[in-house]
Amino acid sequence: MTDSAGAAWEVLRGLDKPGLAELFADDPKRFDRFASRVDLAESGILFDWSKTHLDAAHLLAFEKLAELAGFSEAREKLLTGEIINPSEGRAAEHTAQRSVGNPDSVDLARALHRRMAALVDAIHKGVLGEVRHLIHIGIGGSALGPALAIDALARDGAMVDVHVVSNIDGCALEEAFAACDPRTTILAVASKTFSTIETMTNVQSALDWLEANGVADSFGRVVALTASPDKALEWGVDETRILPFPESVGGRYSLWSSMGFPVALALGWPDFAELLDGAAIMDRHFAEADGAANVPLRAAFADQYYTRLRGCQTRAVFAYDERLALLPAYLQQLEMESNGKSVTVGGAPVGDPTAPITWGGVGTDAQHAVFQLLHQGTNLVPVDFVASIVPGHNLDDEHHRILLSNCFAQGAALMAGRQSDDPARSYPGDRPCATILLDELTPASFGALIAFHEHRTFSNAVLMGINPFDQFGVELGKEIAVQIDEGTAHFDASTEALLKLVGLAV
Ligand code: F6P
Repeated sequence: MTDSAGAAWEVLRGLDKPGLAELFADDPKRFDRFASRVDLAESGILFDWSKTHLDAAHLLAFEKLAELAGFSEAREKLLTGEIINPSEGRAAEHTAQRSVGNPDSVDLARALHRRMAALVDAIHKGVLGEVRHLIHIGIGGSALGPALAIDALARDGAMVDVHVVSNIDGCALEEAFAACDPRTTILAVASKTFSTIETMTNVQSALDWLEANGVADSFGRVVALTASPDKALEWGVDETRILPFPESVGGRYSLWSSMGFPVALALGWPDFAELLDGAAIMDRHFAEADGAANVPLRAAFADQYYTRLRGCQTRAVFAYDERLALLPAYLQQLEMESNGKSVTVGGAPVGDPTAPITWGGVGTDAQHAVFQLLHQGTNLVPVDFVASIVPGHNLDDEHHRILLSNCFAQGAALMAGRQSDDPARSYPGDRPCATILLDELTPASFGALIAFHEHRTFSNAVLMGINPFDQFGVELGKEIAVQIDEGTAHFDASTEALLKLVGLAV
């Protein structure tokens, strides 16, 4: 952190922190000020941050912090394809996949998309014979985005039935096998590095399954989605079925690249293109809006307020939409793998908290399970609610009325609380939430929703002075797992004893 950014934090720490009731009482137009829409081609998303503790003084001070932390310069670097990930010497060019970025990178992304669209079209037309199922095998960023997008958008009328398998636990793959007919199944090997052990092991077992079930040319049914096309070629995938994406697209930011192949195959190319367009509208908003008018940046201001000024160690996300049930898991990787860091971009200790733990679930289920803690527990947990005005089903309207009533009731209850003579029945209130209200869940609004979270994560990183685009924290455990597998190292007494119990050490 620069000294001047440090001074901005000092200013922020010294500000009064009025409660939510006071903020609303003082400003009858608070909703109009803190809830803004981002309009898409045919719908839009409302981002209501009025039930957070941000006030005019905090907004000003956070805007100053953004200025001193070099937000505009960092955003420019991100969106023009300059190196923004110094520890790996890379750009982070996920927006170029959505046509926003360095012109050469945008051209390359378009060319790779054309190649992907052609393969999707050819598969739909039968080039691989009848294809009814796709088993998409990947992990982390090579699974969470596709799994979320498929669950959100491909519930009705999918052109191909997609199963996303990530876990090395064979139960996951067996579940997919049970749901697929091997004669009409193709495999996607989804791995940026084309070397992740879980993915490569699962793919081998899936190939064995195809062969054991009479598919003569199992490799002929493999599509590779990767930034390491040479490795895919060497491993045996035919060049025509390798869909590359650039190294500068990070794993957890890769849905927009060929990693979105299962989405395009299930929904058809026009819907995938719409998803990219929706994300691009959010990109342009992020690129052009200033200060607190910039919704991802404003969300990051609130995130920083709770993490650094109020000591919140977690933040929760509840999707009041069954189709977005996997959103919390997706955001966990996006936010925790990006911003769960202890050193600044320059390598100095950060000194202050960085990413909170992201957790969540679906409403209304979570209300009957974990909301007790939100309302009366000792942890202050900022909450995001995500809902859609148009229901995703054709059942009686009553379902959606009850769903949305509950969503808004929770936000109102968290904020207002209720006093009682009986302490056990008292609700302290003054607990914050934000509401993200989609007009309708469509490929475009889904794309914009995910892009909003990418930019929010980036904005948080800039305000904290950390690099959101590396993830060295995942490496040590991987290395030790290899050592265990190879029997090449000795460990502490506890680990040795556990290894002996399961036969992994003698
Ligand atoms: O181990 C973490 C990680 O590198 C993630 O960042 C990534 O999304 C995931 O593994 C999968 O990596 P790959 O796409 O290279 O198989």
